Amino acid sequence: MKKFLVIGNPIDHSLSPKLHNFWIQKFGINAVYEKKKIEENEIGEVIKDIKQHKLSGSNVTVPLKKKIIPYLDKLSPEAERTQSVNTIILEDKTLVGYNTDVSGFESAIKRINYDFKKKKICILGAGGVVPSLIFALNRMQVLDITIVNRTRRKAEDLKIQFDNIKVIEWGNLPFFDVVINATSLGLNNEDINLNFSNVGSNKLFYDIIYNPSETNFLKKGKKLGNQIENGKWMFIFQAFEAFKLWHRVNPEITDETLKLLEND
Ligand code: ATR
Repeated sequence: MKKFLVIGNPIDHSLSPKLHNFWIQKFGINAVYEKKKIEENEIGEVIKDIKQHKLSGSNVTVPLKKKIIPYLDKLSPEAERTQSVNTIILEDKTLVGYNTDVSGFESAIKRINYDFKKKKICILGAGGVVPSLIFALNRMQVLDITIVNRTRRKAEDLKIQFDNIKVIEWGNLPFFDVVINATSLGLNNEDINLNFSNVGSNKLFYDIIYNPSETNFLKKGKKLGNQIENGKWMFIFQAFEAFKLWHRVNPEITDETLKLLEND
């Protein structure tokens, strides 16, 4: 039986096993997908298991998406550009790192038919997923991207990778068409201590968080008359792409698939 893993820390909240095992069963594939909490110094063990075919592949989540890179032989163009890997596969004897967060986000945006071309984007946060967002947004030809992060230095560091971004101090908000919450604020129903009351209406409020399905950030956006969207479809599409890479089949996304992810 083939075995797949998602590794990271924390990992308890991950819904990847639920989704992948559901698809594995639908296709009658002889495999299982598990989650494993690991520290940075345990990455080598997982890599060894993949090279010895004890594992057939792995998803990688925070805080290991960048730290895993030195262990890999080759990166996909998206993984290379973002320095972020969320899917690993052994191709012949080459360990390849992919980034399916980029296409996951792109597919989620296509699905809602929102035209990002020439739009002004504000990203809250500068953590692991942000390089993937910036890469995808640049590919969608947005007008500009402003990063607002509590720890300004982490946002400034992103300029090394992406020279077209602007950074402003946490507490301020730029004029924007789209605001994306990429902080972890909201996972436990926390508020974001930013003042949105002057941003106006008819903007897009997008949250990477999908559980809870409506964070306080999205509630606030909706109340002010804006379109809102959570990260559920991005999560589904990144898993879809990983599934395709490993099993060479397109899984189905149905109402049943969506119900799997309804935790709240
Ligand atoms: P990591 O930063 O390790 O990559 P992450 O979950 O990908 O982890 O990112 C967490 C994001 O949420 C960061 O942008 C973090 O801001 P800092 O860089 O200042 O840590 C942001 N965040 C978490 N708690 C926050 C809080 N209480 N207020 C504001 N931002 C917060």
